[in-house]
Amino acid sequence: MEERLPQHIAVIMDGNGRWAKERGLPRSEGHLAGVEAVRTLVRECRVRGIGHVTVYAFSKENWQRPEKEVRFLFDLFLRFIRQELPELMRQDIRLAFIGDRSDLPFAVRQALEYAMRKTAGNASMVFTLAISYSGREEILHAARRALTAGLAPERLNEDTFRSFLYAPDMPDPDLVIRTSGEERLSNFLLFQSAYAELYFSSVLWPDFDAKELQKALDSYAGRTRRFGRTDEQLRTTSEGMRYE
Ligand code: FPP
Repeated sequence: MEERLPQHIAVIMDGNGRWAKERGLPRSEGHLAGVEAVRTLVRECRVRGIGHVTVYAFSKENWQRPEKEVRFLFDLFLRFIRQELPELMRQDIRLAFIGDRSDLPFAVRQALEYAMRKTAGNASMVFTLAISYSGREEILHAARRALTAGLAPERLNEDTFRSFLYAPDMPDPDLVIRTSGEERLSNFLLFQSAYAELYFSSVLWPDFDAKELQKALDSYAGRTRRFGRTDEQLRTTSEGMRYE
């Protein structure tokens, strides 16, 4: 069964606001409950031996939310990064970041960079926060960097292009999960998700617990990933054998 475990899970955490509304609470309570779900996700993936977990914490588009909510979310990220550091060390997890660093409030950027330095040697899992992230922006940013670096057009291919992405060494996600019943990618990991399996859950993010994660993993394990090939080819290639 292990070979059918995704190596990289990327999550679009959606539904905090609705979760709070259902309970007659302010949206901020939904985000607070969402933090607990993040902790559970990281812990559960780590014990299962999933090497990479990436969460979409704040998109470029999220800057359009009311200023009060944006401020609340960044305070939350700051507290989360500071509070989680001992736990990340204990669990041997490396913290990484994708997104537009120049958008981050100074204190958040400082805490993030400190935590990334501290956890740089951890090897059991990589936990990546996507903050002020946009997939299209990442592609444009990479294109600009490639041009600035003077990359010759004939040398531009998927591998050289990848080296200009925010996290060049991050493997592509095998499984993208989105909660709360929405079925869109919303500008998340556009280049990297080309062959990802998509899993949509109707559960609101704060309710996405270990049991819900297991459902997503079971769904993934039951799928055949062809990467553009036929069933016959899959039966005869080593890659295909993994899924037979
Ligand atoms: C989506 O719910 C959630 C967000 C835009 C923020 C994500 C933040 C968290 C899950 C909090 C903690 C995360 C970290 C990494 C500490 P929504 O507000 O869009 O919900 P709605 O669609 O029901 O309004």
